[in-house]
Amino acid sequence: MSPLAIQIIKDEHLAISAVLYTLRYLVKGMRKGARPDFALLKAILDYIVSYPDRWHHPKEDKYLFSAVKRRTHDADALIAKLEREHQLGYPMVEALKVQLLAFQHEDDGAQARFFDAAERYAELEWTHLQTEEEQLLPLAERVLTAADWKEIDAAFEENDNPLFGIKPKEEAEALYQKILSLAPAPIGFGGHSPT
Ligand SMILES: [Fe+2]
Ligand SMILES: [Fe+2]
Repeated sequence: MSPLAIQIIKDEHLAISAVLYTLRYLVKGMRKGARPDFALLKAILDYIVSYPDRWHHPKEDKYLFSAVKRRTHDADALIAKLEREHQLGYPMVEALKVQLLAFQHEDDGAQARFFDAAERYAELEWTHLQTEEEQLLPLAERVLTAADWKEIDAAFEENDNPLFGIKPKEEAEALYQKILSLAPAPIGFGGHSPT
């Protein structure tokens, strides 16, 4: 049985992947002439800001990556790459939010810029999640001790922290439900891939 934190990380990756998939699906459809659903696109960007960016990636940096770095130098290059990707993701999402507004205001070329940036972002994140699952998590399972996992599990298990007025899980869940309810039926019901 994998450590609890690994199960939680994989579950969070699944939810993030579903949202990235929805974003790619929508862009693909719009490229073929589908009407943009701005409420859904905005909900997707809000979700990325409130969950992966504010919650998931920082916990990986602070607890998982730092614990692995304490135990081995074998993963230093890999972790540096993953940390760099976390850092790259934040400004990309901020730019996407601005590009979405420009697209909505029908600024010159804004639609194409949004499509390209959204696809680039989804690709970067998707590859990032895969690299963590295929390379970092198995390595972490090999080098970390039960005591290390206890601390990491506790961090990932922690839900909302009312002391700091932070309710990321609750916020993310509400946004996730909104995305599912707004998404076209093939996505909302977990259907086929876009062609
Ligand atoms: Fe990550
Ligand atoms: Fe991750």
